[in-house]
Amino acid sequence: MCCWETRAFALRHSLAAFVVLLFFKKADAGILDSLVWARSDKIDVTIPWLPFENENRCYDELGCLNITRSWYHLIHRPFNVFPLPRSVINTRFILYTRLNPTEGQLVRAQDDKSINRSNFDPKKKTKFIIHGFIDTPLSNWVGDMRDELIKADDMNVIVVDWAGGSLPLYTQATANTRLVGLELGYFINHIIKNYTVDPADVHIIGHSLGAHTAGYAGALVKGLGRITGLDPAEPYFQNMPSHVRLDPSDAELVDVIHTDGKGIFFLGYGMSQPCGHLDFYPNNGKEQPGCDITQTPLVPLTLIRDGLEEASRVLVACNHVRAIKLFTDSINGRCPYLAHQCKSYQHFLTGKCFTCKPGSQSCALMGYHADSSPGLLDNEVSPSTKLQDAVGNKYFTSTGREYPYCHRLYRVSLELAKPPTAEIWVQGFIKAKLHSPQGVIHMDLTPSGDMKLEHGSTYSMVLSHPADLGGNIKKVELNWEYDMNVLEPRTLCLFWCNDHLYVKSVAVEEMEMPGRGKRDAKFSSKLCARSKRDYADIANRGRAVFVSDGCCRQYNTSSDKLS
Ligand SMILES: *[C@@H]1O[C@H](CO)[C@@H](O)[C@H](O)[C@H]1NC(C)=O
Ligand SMILES: *[C@@H]1O[C@H](CO)[C@@H](O)[C@H](O)[C@H]1NC(C)=O
Ligand SMILES: *[C@@H]1O[C@H](CO)[C@@H](O)[C@H](O)[C@H]1NC(C)=O
Repeated sequence: MCCWETRAFALRHSLAAFVVLLFFKKADAGILDSLVWARSDKIDVTIPWLPFENENRCYDELGCLNITRSWYHLIHRPFNVFPLPRSVINTRFILYTRLNPTEGQLVRAQDDKSINRSNFDPKKKTKFIIHGFIDTPLSNWVGDMRDELIKADDMNVIVVDWAGGSLPLYTQATANTRLVGLELGYFINHIIKNYTVDPADVHIIGHSLGAHTAGYAGALVKGLGRITGLDPAEPYFQNMPSHVRLDPSDAELVDVIHTDGKGIFFLGYGMSQPCGHLDFYPNNGKEQPGCDITQTPLVPLTLIRDGLEEASRVLVACNHVRAIKLFTDSINGRCPYLAHQCKSYQHFLTGKCFTCKPGSQSCALMGYHADSSPGLLDNEVSPSTKLQDAVGNKYFTSTGREYPYCHRLYRVSLELAKPPTAEIWVQGFIKAKLHSPQGVIHMDLTPSGDMKLEHGSTYSMVLSHPADLGGNIKKVELNWEYDMNVLEPRTLCLFWCNDHLYVKSVAVEEMEMPGRGKRDAKFSSKLCARSKRDYADIANRGRAVFVSDGCCRQYNTSSDKLS
C-alpha cells in the first residue's frame, strides 16, 4: 500500500471539504485560504483549557519532550498530545548499501554490535528516508527511492520505519513524529560520536509528516548536512513557530518541494509557506498536471464505486505524492530540473525571471542535485551566506503530467509589428513548431486559452517541453487562429475588421546548465520572417516561417512563404 498519508484526515474532513470544494470551486483557492489564515492570526483568543500544557516527559537516553503554550494555536494547531510509548511506535532503522541493496539490515544505536556487523561504512555518505502518515517503509516509493540512491552513489541508505506511530489518528501521529525525531537525532549523534561520521555527510529525506520529523531530528544534530522536505504536511504545521515544523535552522541546507499547497479546505495537504533555504514550487506548487479531478473521469467513477473516502484519497494522494516522484526522478535523470526564483508563478510564466547566473540566487536545481545549484557555486561567498540570502524565496518551474516529469524551459518572445492595416489588438491562439538540428518540437504558445495581443508590443512566455533542442534553433513556424466569440461582440471580426496577426520576430531562449566560470547561461536564437517586408503577415488560420538568418536583412527574393 502506498502513501495514504492523509487518509484519516481526509476521512474526517472529506465531507466538509467536498462541500467547500463545491461551493468555492470557482474561487481562487489561494485568495480564500490566505484570507482565512490571515484572519485567524488576528483573533487572539485564549484557549480556555490546554491539555498537557507545560507538561514534560522523558524517554531515557533520548531526552525529554514538553508541550508549552507555543505548541498551541486556536486554528493552526488546536490539539496537542504526547507521543505513544516508544515500544508502540517501535522506530527502526533499516540499512541498505550496494552490498545489500534489497535485504535490509536492522541497525540500533543501543546495540553497537548491530552496526559493527552490518555493511554500514562511516566514511561514506548516509541518507535517511522517512515516510509519512498512514504509510509504511513497505510503500513502493521507499524502495524506488532507495534503489535510485544506491545506483547514484555508493552510500549508506537507512530507511526509518515508524509504522507503529503513523496510525490513522492525525493528532496522535503528529505527536509521534516528535519522538521519532528524538530517536533519529539520537541515532545520528551516536554514529557521529562512535563511528566518526561527518555530520555534513548526513542527509535526511522526509515526505509529509516525515519532513517535519527530519526537522525535529535536525534540531538535535549540530552541523547536519541536509534535509529534503517532500511536500511537508500542512495541518498542524503551517504558520506555526519554527520549532514546531521544518525550518532552515534544522540543517546546513534545507530544500523543499511543494506540490500540494492548495490549502486544507481544498484537500491540499502540503505546506505552501516556504520552510527551507530553497523552496521549489513546480507548476506553482498547488496542483500538479495530470492530477486535476475535473479532467480525470476516474474520480467520479471511483466516487460511485468506492465512495467518498476512496475518491478523496485518490484526489489527495496524486498531488501530495508527486513531490516524491519528482525527487526520485531527479536522482539519476539527465534533465536538470532547473527552477527560477521569482515573485510569483505568473511572473515566471511571462518570462520575467528567465535568468540563471552562477553565484546569484536567480536559479536553483530542484531535487537531489539542489546542493549543486548554480547559486551555490561561486567561490567568493560562502555557501551558508548564500543560503541565508535564499530563505523565503520561491523557485518556480514547470513539469510534465506524466513521466518524464522533467521538462526543459524555453522562453519564446513574439515581437509584433504595427503596420497601418493592423487592428490595435486581436485575440486568438498561436501554435509553434521549433526546428533545430536536434529535432522538431511542437508548442502551444497559448496554453491557457485565447490571448489578447496588441500590435506593436512584445510578448514573452515560458513554456516547457521534455525535449532539449540545445538552443540551436534554425526555424520557427507559427500558426495563428483568430478567436471569434459570438457571445462577445468586441471580438467579432467580419468584413470591416482585419483578423491578421503581424509578427516582426520570434526569439527563443533555452537555459544551458551554467557551470563555474560561465557568466550567463542562455542559448538564444532570434528569427525573422522570410518576407519582403520586415514582418510576417499571418492570416486567420494561416502560417508563417521565421528563420535565423532572416533578421537584419531585407529579402529581395520572392519566396514569400506566407499562406
Ligand atoms: C521545552 O523543551 C525545549 C526543547 O527541549 C526547551 O528548550 C525548553 O526550555 C523547554 N521548556 C520548558 C518550560 O521546560
Ligand atoms: C564495534 O564497536 C565498538 C564500540 O563502538 C568498537 O570499539 C569496536 O572496535 C567495534 N568492532 C568492530 C569489529 O568494528
Ligand atoms: C559508543 O556509544 C555509547 C553510547 O553512546 C557509549 O557508551 C560508548 O562508550 C561509545 N563507544 C565508543 C567506542 O565510543
